[in-house]
Amino acid sequence: MSHSDDDKSANKMWGGRFSAPPAEIMEEINASIGFDKVLAPQDIRGSKAHAAMLAEQGIITKSDAREIIKGLNQVSAEIEAGSFTFSRALEDVHMNVENRLKEIVGPAAGRLHTARSRNDQVALDFRLFVRDRLDEFDRALIVLKLALAAKAEIHAGTAMPGFTHLQPAQPVTFGHHLMAYVEMFARDRSRFSDARSRLNECPLGAAALAGTSFPIDRHMTAKALGFDRPTANSLDSVSDRDFVLEALAAATICGVHLSRFAEEIVLWMTPQFGFIRLSDGLTTGSSIMPQKRNPDAAELARAKVGRIAGAFQSIVIVMKGLPLAYSKDMQEDKEVTLDALSSLALAITAMTRMVEDMEPNKDAMRAASGRGYSTATDLADWLVRELKLPFREAHHVTGSIVKEAEKRKLDLEKLPLEAMQSIEPRISNAVYSVLSVENSLASRTSYGGTSPQNVRKMARGWLKRLEKELTSG
Ligand code: ARG
Repeated sequence: MSHSDDDKSANKMWGGRFSAPPAEIMEEINASIGFDKVLAPQDIRGSKAHAAMLAEQGIITKSDAREIIKGLNQVSAEIEAGSFTFSRALEDVHMNVENRLKEIVGPAAGRLHTARSRNDQVALDFRLFVRDRLDEFDRALIVLKLALAAKAEIHAGTAMPGFTHLQPAQPVTFGHHLMAYVEMFARDRSRFSDARSRLNECPLGAAALAGTSFPIDRHMTAKALGFDRPTANSLDSVSDRDFVLEALAAATICGVHLSRFAEEIVLWMTPQFGFIRLSDGLTTGSSIMPQKRNPDAAELARAKVGRIAGAFQSIVIVMKGLPLAYSKDMQEDKEVTLDALSSLALAITAMTRMVEDMEPNKDAMRAASGRGYSTATDLADWLVRELKLPFREAHHVTGSIVKEAEKRKLDLEKLPLEAMQSIEPRISNAVYSVLSVENSLASRTSYGGTSPQNVRKMARGWLKRLEKELTSG
């Protein structure tokens, strides 16, 4: 019997010892081409590096390598042009690409899979894919942070209420609030970068699980594909998916940050808060209630973390208890990860657009920032500073003054001096200087505090750093 592919009874790639084709259900549960076709660019990149190395090492001829690389370039062009037909019978992206290569270049294609297995091939492709996504997140987060810092600089002194327990706590500035997210997204970038550095080892050449008897040069392929080094253990190389888990864990945390911010946008846009406005292009209407402006983009950004955290959970459960080395279970890592990483990219971009677009309603924010006795802490601090009261006592005295103000339905600033003196006789007129929102803000000059001066400095520092990163990256 010939080795040609006109034997339709079995799989073209591994069907030698089979005399019957896979059952319909076998093909259906086994095929991954429906989703792993997005790995084609990475698959082709890996194959080109592998072919070049095989030739360099004298394992295949230089002319075969040339044929293979030329053919892979054509496959790549066909996929880009959308003229490539993916076939479910060929299971996955690796065999679809290799089969087409064979149609284009003939027998030389059959030499590409020397010293390689789909196990190290898929580990490589997915690493390259996740690494590309991590790099995209890094850039997208720089752009998001730039938008935040730019808006924060403009609104370094724009008063808004600061909340704890979602109750008015102390005045802060809108710029300070935005800069809080700059810090969170900076830590997210650092987590992605950590994940990337551990991911950046090349599994190619681990072959099925045990390495190979061919004299391959794994350092050469690792270098050609931008890895720091080859992985050190062939079993680990084909069975490790913790690079996916780490990327998803970092993505989950980033998704949580985006979600919290998105929730604030939703709150701020309610008429009850009325803190910000988004333009028509970033809101939607209702098909029944003509007055509505809905923050759908923020709501969806708030929700995306559900899928991302779900993907992390899903892969933790797939990997738990799997014996070494490769098992087909691991094919289940792809769909959820692809979805999760696209969801995060989308959420980051949507949030960036909203930050660039949002305009604060300064009057509403200023008015709200003075409500709820938000400068009571400033009063207590004044009692400590000027009257030398211990803070605990000052806290108690201030509490009684707030109670009195509440009874008279007055803000602290409007409460007559006698009313305060009836509680603490040594309070003087000078106290009023600390009771305004503006004074409260200006006084918070401790490192990391909300004073407009601090916020402006932080925002400018970040803008400078981020602009440099954007142009150098
Ligand atoms: N489609 C497979 C996956 O995603 C590729 C590796 C298949 N390896 C194998 N020995 N069947 O995991």
